[in-house]
Amino acid sequence: MAKTDLNTEPAMAAFLRSLPAGLISLHSSHPAPLTAAQLTELIDFKPAQLPHILSQDYAPMAGSEELRQAIADAHYTSTQADHILTTCGAQEALFVTMQALLNKGDQVVCLTPVFEPLTLQAKMAGAQVSTVSLLPDQQWAIDWPALKKVVNKKTRLLIINFPHNPTGKHITEQELNRLLELCRQHDCWLLSDEVFRGLEHQSGRRLPAAVDLYDKAISIAVMSKAYGMPAIRLGWIACRHPHLRQRMLTVKRHISICGSRLDENVAIQILPHSETIFNHHRGQLNHNRSFLADCLPQLPHLRCHPPEAGATCFARLNTQQTLTGQVFAEQLAQQQGLLVYPDTCFVTDIPGFRLSIADAAIAEHYPLLKTD
Ligand SMILES: Cc1ncc(COP(=O)(O)O)c(C=O)c1O
Repeated sequence: MAKTDLNTEPAMAAFLRSLPAGLISLHSSHPAPLTAAQLTELIDFKPAQLPHILSQDYAPMAGSEELRQAIADAHYTSTQADHILTTCGAQEALFVTMQALLNKGDQVVCLTPVFEPLTLQAKMAGAQVSTVSLLPDQQWAIDWPALKKVVNKKTRLLIINFPHNPTGKHITEQELNRLLELCRQHDCWLLSDEVFRGLEHQSGRRLPAAVDLYDKAISIAVMSKAYGMPAIRLGWIACRHPHLRQRMLTVKRHISICGSRLDENVAIQILPHSETIFNHHRGQLNHNRSFLADCLPQLPHLRCHPPEAGATCFARLNTQQTLTGQVFAEQLAQQQGLLVYPDTCFVTDIPGFRLSIADAAIAEHYPLLKTD
């Protein structure tokens, strides 16, 4: 690990530290969490099962068999329970994957804007990261000519994240296959961050998990995003390569050792009802997306392509604006008391900020997305 990278605070943390407390959050990337009572009503969740877990021992390192089977059943076709390693959130899944897969000097390619840890974690593992920007004027389409120039036989890993944070862009199955073909052609690994898989705004747009399609693909997912359950820190890695999985387990042994049995129990109860939970969240996301679209004509300084999936979109500042995303977000915090994360938090210089469509309570604040 490059220890010097630890001296640089992630952009999101640095931005947050510069702001006053008590702002109204318009940045969340996960749907509003359901209460235990709502879950009981929706899927017959049984909180009464939880206390007896306290007398149990550590969970198995890779996650219990029951949990990994529930994940495999809910998410994958050919990928099996034995191919899954559970982690403390997707963040640990990323760390474990990068440390197990990458060596100093390895070349990694990533699409931007991007959830910052996807690049930072690769750099911490010693890799050199090249970025290719999605095309903002083409509804955040992949820039295929640019990507094909950058991915070559020296590339160790291509990182993708669809449904995409922060833009809300989603790709088609044909485009996913094209990405896989590019990896096959250069024999490189694919890390597919699938934490928003399940939150497609239109049914029928769900992509297959990359791990089911390519033997060098690693799929990562988590309970906090598509399920809207950040309070349980439960993510996972699906990887069909036994040697790499063994290395991942070794990394995990050095950090969290194993997951929490309480979290495991909650996830085991939730996972068989994944579609019910996704449908519930989809209703709210679609509602907020339409409300945002209705507000945009009153916000002519913003250009915002409606998100196709996930809980966020990226609002660009019109070119007439001389403000950077960072200055706009700072002014928004000071003048309107609203918190959004600017472009700098997503490894991009496209001026703008990430805007949430997650929560019923935030929509009423969209008309305030302006500064003097
Ligand atoms: C694309 C992406 N991957 C991974 C994560 C990490 O998920 P968690 O915070 O649940 O570990 C996030 C969190 O925002 C994310 O947006």
